Amino acid sequence: MGKWIIEDKECLAEKITSDGNKYLVGNGYMGIRGTLQEYKKEEFPAINLAGLYDQVGDAWREPLNAPNGLYTYIEFEGKQYRLPQHLPSSHHIALDYRHGIFYRDTSWETEVGKIRVKAERFASLDECHLIAMKYSICSDADGRVRIYTGIDGEVWDINGPHYDEMWLSETKPIIYGVGITHECKYKICVSETYDVDFNLDEDIIIEGRKIVRVLSFEAKAGISYDLYKYIGVYTSKDTSDYLNEASRLILEAKSNGYDYILRKHKNKWEEKWKVSQVTIEGDDISMEALNYSIYHLHSIAPRHADSLSIPARGLSGQTYKGAVFWDTEMFMLDLFLFTEPDVAKTLLKYRIDTLDGAKKKAKDYGYCGAFYPWESQEGGYDACSDYNVVDVFTGRPMRTYFKDKQVHISSAVVYGIMRYVDYTGNYDLLIEGGGQVIIECARFYYDLLIKKVHLDRYELHDVIGPDEYHERVNNNAYTNKMAKYTFQSAISVIDILSQFDALYEELSQQYDLLWLKQIFQDAAVKIYIPEPDEKNQVIEQFDGYFGLEDVSIEELKKRMLHEKEYLGGAYGIASHSKVIKQADVVTMLNLFSDEYSMEVLLKNWEYYEPRTEHGSSLSACMYSMLACKCQMPEKAYPLFLKSARADLRESTKQWAGLIYIGGTHPAAAGGAYMTAIEGFAGLRIKDGKLNVNPNLPSKWNSMAFKIIYHGDLYEINIEKNSAKINNLGRYKG
Ligand code: BGC
Repeated sequence: MGKWIIEDKECLAEKITSDGNKYLVGNGYMGIRGTLQEYKKEEFPAINLAGLYDQVGDAWREPLNAPNGLYTYIEFEGKQYRLPQHLPSSHHIALDYRHGIFYRDTSWETEVGKIRVKAERFASLDECHLIAMKYSICSDADGRVRIYTGIDGEVWDINGPHYDEMWLSETKPIIYGVGITHECKYKICVSETYDVDFNLDEDIIIEGRKIVRVLSFEAKAGISYDLYKYIGVYTSKDTSDYLNEASRLILEAKSNGYDYILRKHKNKWEEKWKVSQVTIEGDDISMEALNYSIYHLHSIAPRHADSLSIPARGLSGQTYKGAVFWDTEMFMLDLFLFTEPDVAKTLLKYRIDTLDGAKKKAKDYGYCGAFYPWESQEGGYDACSDYNVVDVFTGRPMRTYFKDKQVHISSAVVYGIMRYVDYTGNYDLLIEGGGQVIIECARFYYDLLIKKVHLDRYELHDVIGPDEYHERVNNNAYTNKMAKYTFQSAISVIDILSQFDALYEELSQQYDLLWLKQIFQDAAVKIYIPEPDEKNQVIEQFDGYFGLEDVSIEELKKRMLHEKEYLGGAYGIASHSKVIKQADVVTMLNLFSDEYSMEVLLKNWEYYEPRTEHGSSLSACMYSMLACKCQMPEKAYPLFLKSARADLRESTKQWAGLIYIGGTHPAAAGGAYMTAIEGFAGLRIKDGKLNVNPNLPSKWNSMAFKIIYHGDLYEINIEKNSAKINNLGRYKG
C-alpha cells in the first residue's frame, strides 16, 4: 500500500537545496521549503507566497518570500547546536505526504551527554494563513537550555532585496515582522506566539532584521520540553486589517491548542485523499511516487482564491520568476479537473482575468486577439525576458524568442477551458468570460495566418513549438494543430453562447459573431497540418526538420565545449540537428490520438524518442502516455517513474552556474497523474461517457481511483483482465 512517508538520514550540505524542494509543505496560499528551523538565508529557507511579486531595479520580477516565523535554534550549557555548522550524532528528516507534515529529529553530543531536538510543522490546510510547529528538546543530562525563536526578516531572495523596510515589534504575547515591499509597497505581515507548559524566562532581542525570543530554563535529564509555535501570515493584499487578522488568528489557534488544529489540518488532507488517492497493488514504488506527486499539486492548489494560477515551480521559491507557463493548463489541470473542479475553475479564471494583458501583448506585436504571456505573473504581466540564457563563452546574455514566438501558449488556455467544459459539463466558465477568451485566442491565430499566393492553404510561420531548441520555425505541427483546435473551439463556443440571449447580445455588440464563425471555419479547414510522411509515417516537426543533421544525443553532447552551454537558439549545437529538447510532435499526437492510426502513433514514438533529450521535466510523461496508447506499457513505465519521481530524485538540476534554478516540478507531477489515469488506465470520454482502456505495466496487479465527471463521482477499479466503472452518485464536495 505504500508508506506515505519519505525520509532521509543523511545531513549533507549539498542536499540542502534539493531537500528544500523534496520536503516542501504548503497549502496553496504559501509553500514552506523543507529546510531546518535554524537555517538562515544562506540555506534557502522560504515561506513562498502565492500570487505576490516584486521587482527591484532592472532585475527579474519574482514572487515574495515572507519573513521566516519558524526561525528557531538552541543553546545548551552556553553552546549553540545548529545545522549545518555543528555535526550531529544522528539526524533524520521525514515528510508525511498524506498529511503535509514535515519532521526533523537531530541529536548532538555535548560535553555532558546528548541533546536532541525534534520538531514537526505544517501549513494548515484548514486555515491557509496559519502555520503551526511543535519543537521539543530533551537532553541526557541536566543543563541550562536556551531556545532562540522568533521571526527572521533576513529573507532569502534571488533578485532582491524585496523589503525596503522590516518593522519588528512586540505586543505581548505576539511578536511581529512586517516587510514593506519595494515595488507595490505591499505589507507582508507575520505574527508569532508560543505556548509551553513549563516555567521559563523570556527576553526579546532585535538584531538587524531578526526579532527573537530567548526562552531559558533548567532542563532535567530525560524530560522532553515542548514548545508550540503559532504563526500567522497575512498581507495588505488580503486585507487592510492584516495586523489584527494575523493576531486574532494565532491567539485563536493557541487557545484551541496544537492538537486541535493539527487534527483539523489532517482531516482536510484526508478529505482530499478520499477522492484523489490512486491505489496501485503490486508496485509500492509507483504508488508512492504517484501519490507524492499528487501531494505536491494539492499543496500548491489555490483554494483560498477564486482566480489564481500555479507557477511552474509551484510554491518552492523564486526560480522561473514564480511565473505561470503552459504547464498549468497542459500538465497540472487534469488532477484538479478530475478530483476538485473548483480548483480547476480558479486556475482558469486567472486566464480570464488576465485577458486584457493578453490582448495588450498581441497588440504590442501588431496582432489582434489574445496572445497570452509565456511567463505570466500578477495581472497577466509577461515576465519572460528577451534574454533567458547566458552565453557561457562570452558571458553575454543571449537573445531567445520564447516570449515572442511560443504562440502555442494561447491555445493551451483554450484547451484548459474546453477541457473544463467537457469534464464538468458546465458552461459557467464560458459565460464568465471563458467564451470571450477563446474567441480572442482564435482571432489571434487568425491574424497570424499566412497564405502563399500559389497555395490554397494557411500556414503559421516564425514560431517556437514545445521543443525550445529550434527557434523561429515554420509550420510546427503542434502549433498549427493547436491553432486549428482553437478555431474549432471558438466555433462551438459561439454556438453554445447563442443559447444565452443576454450574453450573446452583449458579445454581438463587440463582435460580428456570424462573420467570425465563418472565418474560423475557413481557417480550420485550410490551416496546413503536416501529415505523416507516406514512406515512414513520421510527421515532420516543422518545415525542414527532416533535412537537419541526424546525430545521436550522445554524439551531439561530445561536441559541447562547455558543460553548461545552451544547446538551442541561434548558435546552439542542437539547433541544426534533429535532437529536440522535449516532446513536440508526440505531445500533439497525445492530444489528438483518436485522429491517427496506431501505426502513426507508434512510428512517431519510435522516431522521436531517441532524438529527444528530455531536457525539460515536461517531456517524459508525454512519451509515457503515448507509449500506453501504443500498448507498450513496459516502455511507458520508466518514463512514468521519471516524471513521478522528478522531485524525489536528488539529481534534478539545482544550479546553472551561480544561479539557483532548483524548485519543485509540478508539471511533471501532473504529467505522472495524467499518465496513470489517461495512459495506464486509458481513461477518456467516449460518446459523452467515461470509458477506460487499461494497459497496466506488468508490475501492477490492479489500480483503483476516483474521478468526478459531470458532477458525479465515479470509482474505477482496474484488474489485469477487467475494469469496472461505478457511479457513486452526485459529488457533494
Ligand atoms: C520548458 C517549457 C516549460 C518551462 C517551465 C522549460 O524548460 O521548455 O516547456 O514551460 O520550462 O516549466
